[in-house]
Amino acid sequence: RTEKYTARAHTNIALIKYWGKLDQDLIIPMNSSLSLTLDKFYTDTSVFFDSDLDQDSFILDGVRQQNTKVTHVLDLLRRFSGEKRFAVVESFNHVPSAAGLASSASAFAALSLAASKAAGLNLDRRALSRLARRGSGSATRSIYGGFVEWQQGHDDASSYAVPLEENLGWNICMIAVVINAKQKKISSRVGMQRVVSTSPYYEGWKKTAKEDLIAIKRAIKQRNLERVGMIAEENALKMHALNLSARPHFSYFEPGSLLAMKIVENLRSEGISCYYTLDAGPNVKIICAKKDTEVILSALESSFSRKDLIVAGPGPGAELIDNP
Ligand code: DP6
Repeated sequence: RTEKYTARAHTNIALIKYWGKLDQDLIIPMNSSLSLTLDKFYTDTSVFFDSDLDQDSFILDGVRQQNTKVTHVLDLLRRFSGEKRFAVVESFNHVPSAAGLASSASAFAALSLAASKAAGLNLDRRALSRLARRGSGSATRSIYGGFVEWQQGHDDASSYAVPLEENLGWNICMIAVVINAKQKKISSRVGMQRVVSTSPYYEGWKKTAKEDLIAIKRAIKQRNLERVGMIAEENALKMHALNLSARPHFSYFEPGSLLAMKIVENLRSEGISCYYTLDAGPNVKIICAKKDTEVILSALESSFSRKDLIVAGPGPGAELIDNP
């Protein structure tokens, strides 16, 4: 068997969302996106190849899984590297609370780094970003820390993430509000595909996502939290409006999501700079300055339990770690 390599990658939250594919198999997005990598949520993944195996084995948090996307990424790596053996992949998700924040972004970024090393490849970060993309689009960005842009490109070679600012020196924070959904969720893969093929607003999304990206990059450079937050909030709402306008329509919002959104808007009317964003699920992520977290937390505590509120800051890119 080969040497075992372990990589750690953190999740990222998009401020300008990726929501639609130009190419389903290569995962080429319809628009460029921009995210912030977070420090509190990460995945550790170990990989080795072994000639005793007759298939790949994937264990997540101690439980054996069937995951065709993991096998897909390993198959691609075998093709690039000439490695013929199957692999053992063991992953641990580290999230401070169990509910709904484990992410495919950190998972596929960590897998790409650990598996490429185990296969004897020394891929640079651009190549790692492209490989992670083949597992899950949002993973493209988790190779880097801080603010990251996924440049959509038009084919496999041109679609990858670039770091905008990896070490921020800026006390920007995200408060995750964990909201438990009982409703069966629509995967992002299925949701975005339905939106692209049925929403009458998709052209408007593509046009304004491009404008939002330019505007938010300028606001980030200027360290203008109010602009960054407002652009992110509006962009997220446009993405969720696409879902409402799809056929059949769907939504990730739960009553708790709307409640958290209202609390943020109320705080804003009281002069506190805070903004929200939501992905393909009911959890709300609040963008704010570190100094304001306590007042925002106490406003949320009237409706949510403290254990469901997690404060995160900017996090680093994917890296190899010693086997834990
Ligand atoms: C709403 O990366 O989960 O979080 O590429 O099909 O695996 P696949 O989708 P995924 O979609 C993420 C969508 C989003 C927005 C974003 O992260 O940009």
